[in-house]
Amino acid sequence: MSKELDSLLKEERIFKPSSEIVENSNIKKWMAKYGIQSYEELLEKAGKNPEWFWDELAQELGWFKEYTDILKWDPPHAEWFLNGKFNITHNALDRHVNGSKKDKIAYIWEGEDGEIKKLTYHELQKEVNKFANALKELGVKKGDTVSIYLPMILELPIAMLACAKIGAVHSVVFSGFWAKAFQERINDAKSKVAITTDGFTRRGKLLPLKENVDEILKNTPSIKNLIVVKHSGIDVEMQEGRDLWWHKITKNMSEECKTEVLDSEDPLFILYTSGTTGKPKGVMHVHGGYAVGVYATLKFVFDLKEDDIWWCAADIGWVTGHSYIVYAPLLLGATSIIYEGTPDYPDPGRLWRMVENYGVTVFYTAPTTIRMFMKFGEKWPKQHDLSSLRLLGSVGEPINPEAWIWYYKHIGGEKCPIMDTWWQTETGMHLITPLPISDLKPGSAVRPFPTVKADIFDDEGKSVKEKGGHLVIKSPWPSMFRTLYRDPQRYIDAYWSTFENIYLSGDVGRIDEDGYFWIQGRSDDVLKVAGHRISTAEVESALVSYKGVAEAAVVGKPDEIKGEEIAAFVVLKEGNTPSEDFKNKLKYHVRTEIGPIATPKYLNFVEDLPKTRSGKIMRRVIKAKVKGEDVGDITTLANPEAVDGLDRAL
Ligand code: WTA
Repeated sequence: MSKELDSLLKEERIFKPSSEIVENSNIKKWMAKYGIQSYEELLEKAGKNPEWFWDELAQELGWFKEYTDILKWDPPHAEWFLNGKFNITHNALDRHVNGSKKDKIAYIWEGEDGEIKKLTYHELQKEVNKFANALKELGVKKGDTVSIYLPMILELPIAMLACAKIGAVHSVVFSGFWAKAFQERINDAKSKVAITTDGFTRRGKLLPLKENVDEILKNTPSIKNLIVVKHSGIDVEMQEGRDLWWHKITKNMSEECKTEVLDSEDPLFILYTSGTTGKPKGVMHVHGGYAVGVYATLKFVFDLKEDDIWWCAADIGWVTGHSYIVYAPLLLGATSIIYEGTPDYPDPGRLWRMVENYGVTVFYTAPTTIRMFMKFGEKWPKQHDLSSLRLLGSVGEPINPEAWIWYYKHIGGEKCPIMDTWWQTETGMHLITPLPISDLKPGSAVRPFPTVKADIFDDEGKSVKEKGGHLVIKSPWPSMFRTLYRDPQRYIDAYWSTFENIYLSGDVGRIDEDGYFWIQGRSDDVLKVAGHRISTAEVESALVSYKGVAEAAVVGKPDEIKGEEIAAFVVLKEGNTPSEDFKNKLKYHVRTEIGPIATPKYLNFVEDLPKTRSGKIMRRVIKAKVKGEDVGDITTLANPEAVDGLDRAL
């Protein structure tokens, strides 16, 4: 890393938002309504009376029937806005179309090849209605699950909103995963209908999707229909009786569709995410509380106003896209950008050119993207007028101070506060985050969002200050996940049992003397590779499913740009010989089992893995070796010679 960056590592300045930003912020105006003078007072008042805070915000949305109670907290189960009748699509679309935002642009979509499509709220609603009617005609009913495997095209939010409209539950699978992941998730949810596309473009290359889906649908007994979006123009074979073209089934559908009146606690979506075992967790969110949580955070954290152009440059296949590309901006009636392609294609000026062209005012991305652009250098953003930007955001992994400063200087022109938002698939919304009125410290996610009680615990469950420990949340929040799909026991065991009825995030961090949170990363075996959440156990199980592999251990190796890279150690079965060819085949196998994002960058053959006497792999030792750190106490190892083997492999 350059000298300049090295010195930036020692950044200890505090960045204060300008008085213009503070005075015009949504949160400041909201505080004025209640006579709240300061950030401190806001946190205190909301902390003492969360139900008041959330009730006020829920009232900004439309309810078919008012809720009778705000919260029922029967740890670890929460219900919010009880007995309220609600639908998130009603709030995201119908409400605006019936009001003043009918002809406002909801989405500006740009394809990787530069094609542009714009949809107003009314046009979006019509597309959603037509597709919702088509789903109904296929027999999709309230409570049914629809599995969706689409890249960043407009049909993805349309399909999600259509499901929500009729009370069906969507399960979106990231299109960067291999189709096998889609198969597992279809079978877990027993979906009757699945949605995909012929293919899409990545770096100018056409990639098929339908073709891969055909393969996996051979083993998905629940599927009756596959809906296919014609997008790339790749030739595909349509299976008679099963496959249907999106454009054909929606063509003659009515543009009107009744929005289902749901209960606030009715399920909205399942989103699978990686945990510490090989089996992904189906995180379940509901209509009412989720809507209120994402609405409030986008309004207060990213401060969206009527004429803002919002760009959350994430993928809709991950929770960031669900919450902050699809639902929250539409709930606020905002105009958002959706970009289909890769950020540095055809050149590293792509994003900045788009910011200039569309006059983007608030921009949200991941640290890994920022670090990638740091590498390309500031000459790329310099070529563009980025003065429309007012606020910036970061999510997905810890942002290192040098990346923070680079982002602040070269993208934000030293005038845009950076909202470093900490949250998870499970939390649905930002939980630890600055507001535009907060003083910022580069690398810190600042303080918990109003009402959220976050803390750092030691192993015994005691609160610690200015010391590292487990990040926990001690109070319920409206958009918390309600359970793990078909696995309610795992919900309790994985999150609420280490410290009884306290939410265990799986992250480690520290609180400084000013009450600021510094989140350092995961304490469990979940990796963050370029912001993608990947479980070491999933990669290990993909490795051992390959012929000739006896055992595998996977750990994260720190990487300057991606945060972490996957490092795998593989023991072969008797009679197999390590070779470059074997290595490549094995890597390819993982790629097709999970997806390109899970392919180990480093793959090493070893004779043995370090184990305890009871046969448990001592991951701690492997991690230390990979990081070049001291391995510490290895007296409990049954096979200390395995450590030398690691040395030889590295
Ligand atoms: C990490 C993404 C530090 C963290 C929204 C968490 C962060 C995991 C931040 C969840 C942040 C997310 N600072 N770490 N601002 N935001 N993380 O479910 O390890 O894909 O547990 O949700 O990302 O990843 P997930």
